Amino acid sequence: MNSLPGFRDFYPETLAVRRFILGKWRETARRYGFREYDGPPLEPLELYTLKSGEEIVGQLYNFTDKGDRAVALRPEMTPTLARMVGAHHRDYKKPIKWFAIPQLFRYERQQRGRLREHFQFNADIIGETDVAADTELIGLAIDTLRSFGLTEKDFVVRVSDRRAWQRYLATLDIAEAQQGVVFQAIDRLGREPLEKTREKLAAVTSKVEELLAFANQKTTKDELKQALDKLGGLSAFCDVDFKIVRGLAYYPGIVWEIHDRKGELRAIAGGGRYDNLLKLVSGVDMPALGFGMGDVVLTELLKERGLLPKPGRELDCYVVIADESLRAPALKLIHDLRDAGVSIDYSLTPEKVGKQFQAASASGAPFALVVGPEEWATGEVKVKDLATGEEKRLKAEEMIHGFHGLP
Ligand code: HAM
Repeated sequence: MNSLPGFRDFYPETLAVRRFILGKWRETARRYGFREYDGPPLEPLELYTLKSGEEIVGQLYNFTDKGDRAVALRPEMTPTLARMVGAHHRDYKKPIKWFAIPQLFRYERQQRGRLREHFQFNADIIGETDVAADTELIGLAIDTLRSFGLTEKDFVVRVSDRRAWQRYLATLDIAEAQQGVVFQAIDRLGREPLEKTREKLAAVTSKVEELLAFANQKTTKDELKQALDKLGGLSAFCDVDFKIVRGLAYYPGIVWEIHDRKGELRAIAGGGRYDNLLKLVSGVDMPALGFGMGDVVLTELLKERGLLPKPGRELDCYVVIADESLRAPALKLIHDLRDAGVSIDYSLTPEKVGKQFQAASASGAPFALVVGPEEWATGEVKVKDLATGEEKRLKAEEMIHGFHGLP
């Protein structure tokens, strides 16, 4: 039986890639002073129907549980965070800087860079209105990607401001209730034919071309300019781009997305301010902002650039039992070494020595440790460098106190 479409099996090689990516995410978040949290993967359906926006609600994995509750697998982390912070915000000093790495579920059409589950690095700041919080997050996202070896030639942060859009749409007499139509259409620019976008916009305004020109402008003003100035050296990674409006419904201020420079892949990350969401979810009025970065597109980009680590086993040595009469002391030595933190594999059942060496080479371990009668008689073992073939005899006792391969 196959796995469901859009769901991944993680064999050891692909799991190693996942651990590599999640490890870098954690490490950069730590450098920026963010604390890790998590929530439940299953939530009340209502948490998402409230304010996530039509697109995401249409993609929910939802069902009625055995207690007749309407529930959904989490499609994003932000509503859970809003709920959690709302319930306990008094226990934490502001601004709250938290991150999480949830697995998320969206019933999307499977395509390149889009699956039905993905891991998403979420970093959020709660309780800070200053634009410095926006730049702290943009800086974190940029430095996260830099930690993989990506540069400003590989990706770009496209920054925009929904307030500038709202002010502009008011001048076109487009009521707030209809602004969602505009944002949805602009969000899909480049993903659907321009004629379709024009059609959608024509339903709410006669000034379609003017509106498209606004989306294509490159001017920087107000808070957006301040934000980019505050980024200092990192501003080389950013472009002003009013075509970025974000599909999710809850962003009222600065919004941004990170894309590969060539524009070949889906967005690597997206985020912005969502000052009203907390109030809506938990009744607590606090400014908030954050971003999400998925593992799927990022893995594609890193693969393309040759920046993924080579798949291999993290084994320190392979023990070759050269004489079956020594299996018992060999097992004791293996156990002592494992206790001391050395990662070891060996043949579980009797095998010819040649076969054991083959297994040692295939294991990816840099060293073979040979337990044979001649050396063992003097309490020693042979350590063989599997790359060079160089051999040394070492006291078994000493190795337990510090195995670093060949001295
Ligand atoms: P989002 O733009 O929906 O934002 O997702 C953020 C990133 O997650 C995307 O740029 C993409 O890399 C990845 N992603 C989303 N859906 C999929 C999918 N079906 N397959 C693979 N990757 C995917 C949010 O979810 C916001 N809640 C982020 C946020 C946090 N805003 C504030 N705080």
